[in-house]
Amino acid sequence: MDKITVVGAGHVGASAAQRIAERELAREVLLVDIIDGLPQGKGLDQWESAPVEGFDTRVRGLASYEGTAGSGAYIVTAGLARTPGMSRSDLVTKNAVIIAGIAREIATYSPDAIILMVTNPLDVMSFVAMQTTGFPRERVIGMAGVLDTARFRSFIALELDVSVEDVQALVLGGHGDSMVPLVSSVSVGGIPLDQLMEPDRIEALVDRTRKGGGEIVALLKTGSAYYAPSSAVTQMCEAIVRDKKRVLPCSVWLEGEYGLDGIFMGVPCKLGRAGLEKIYEVELDDDERAALAKSAAEVKETMEALRA
Ligand code: 2OP
Repeated sequence: MDKITVVGAGHVGASAAQRIAERELAREVLLVDIIDGLPQGKGLDQWESAPVEGFDTRVRGLASYEGTAGSGAYIVTAGLARTPGMSRSDLVTKNAVIIAGIAREIATYSPDAIILMVTNPLDVMSFVAMQTTGFPRERVIGMAGVLDTARFRSFIALELDVSVEDVQALVLGGHGDSMVPLVSSVSVGGIPLDQLMEPDRIEALVDRTRKGGGEIVALLKTGSAYYAPSSAVTQMCEAIVRDKKRVLPCSVWLEGEYGLDGIFMGVPCKLGRAGLEKIYEVELDDDERAALAKSAAEVKETMEALRA
């Protein structure tokens, strides 16, 4: 890819820009922020790390969008982050205004781009971006499932003292406390999780996963997570840039899949050069289906808050 733009030079955006540059996913990474000086300073600082880290992707900061014209992908991280006691949906109204403004810029300068949404509440912010740009659903994709699944995998690996590489898992649903970690799909080196862990411990890890973002917010006190979120969106970006056809949980616009319509929700997707290339419908048992419906209701409620 020629250019990738990261919108928002806060912790998530700056970390994503650095990870993308280090993997040389584009010829140029542009970091945009409205705070003049911040993206330029961080971009220059990152570029100065290139000789040591050994990457040739140019990193540059910009305070406006003209220079991003023709970007193949935009990773949108701008907006307010949660502070302790705030839910992701408390952010909805303020961030919707910010995201709509950014989406207009993207549609103007890069009408063929793929948008990867990170700003919370991200299922609803993805909807705002799709509505504002008029882009097809293949090109507006929310990041959350990869992050939530990574958290679940990291907790399982710690508990069993095994490599994270051997833990496979899947978390569906909205990126909120009612997300749906699918215990039935967890395997550790091919062994089903329920053969390795007692039910109460599994339940504890499911609960910790659901509250994983809040756990970091409570510890940091003045911000929210950024190392794992930036890793997650970089993995999605790599799947697209390198046309890897990876199967990853992403928040996408559903049109009847899983019995849900007119909502962004986390489901397993194939990501490749075209963006969203396929949605997989996995069979769910009754409990999982009920949990997904509950999560969908939570996302719908946040969408309603937007209309209010
Ligand atoms: C998280 O889960 C920030 O929502 C993000 O950490």
